[in-house]
Amino acid sequence: MKYFIDSHTHITNENLDIALYQEDVKKAKAAGILKVMLVFSDRKEIAILDKVKDDPFFDLAHGFFPCDVDRLNDDDYAELEKLLIEYPFKALGEIGLDYHWSPETKAIQKEAFIRQIKLADKLGLPIIIHAREALQDTYDILKAHNNRRKGVMHCYSGSLEMAKEFIKLGYYISFAGPVTYKNNRKSVECAKAIDIDYLLCETDAPYLTPVPKRGERNETANVQLVYEFIAGLRGMDLDDLKKKVAANYERLFG
Ligand code: NI
Repeated sequence: MKYFIDSHTHITNENLDIALYQEDVKKAKAAGILKVMLVFSDRKEIAILDKVKDDPFFDLAHGFFPCDVDRLNDDDYAELEKLLIEYPFKALGEIGLDYHWSPETKAIQKEAFIRQIKLADKLGLPIIIHAREALQDTYDILKAHNNRRKGVMHCYSGSLEMAKEFIKLGYYISFAGPVTYKNNRKSVECAKAIDIDYLLCETDAPYLTPVPKRGERNETANVQLVYEFIAGLRGMDLDDLKKKVAANYERLFG
């Protein structure tokens, strides 16, 4: 099995450097990446939808990032729904709760999260979940508001016990670069022991570059470092891990 799937990556959102991104894509294809879930969390990125929508290399996701939801109105939600229907989106996200960067908007974030879960359920889309310093509230909301197609806890950094609870609800657990960081015992323990049928790998590029490239700008080709690290942890053949993750990805987003 030659290929890797990156279940979460971004166009470089700050300056939307398409040329740079195209360079990343070229490198990713050369490195054996078959598919990436391209997450549009910034308005400006939407401008390139038409360029990527017919390319089978990309799966597409869009949703309102928790730190931005205090600036939204009903028209924004109507536009989100319209886009999700008009374009071949495979997921709604990333959505969720971020109490690290936006502790002052907790109530609005919860409301926006629930509203988008309901939209995903209505449209029959899985969700991509961002949870930072907000794992218990995220769990409580997911438990109370079922999404038929479920979703994934992206860049998961919680405990093994909590991961098992998310899996019981039907949610997948995705690991990014931080699992490779020193002293990240919680993530290591979790990536080592969770049910392999619910495991995904991602870069969250251009952020969170895995070891040994930490410090550089991240790109989707680096997802192989996450796979190699987790295969090592689990004492698994790399090809077997790729097959498992590809099957999981298909089951969730296919
Ligand atoms: Ni992300």
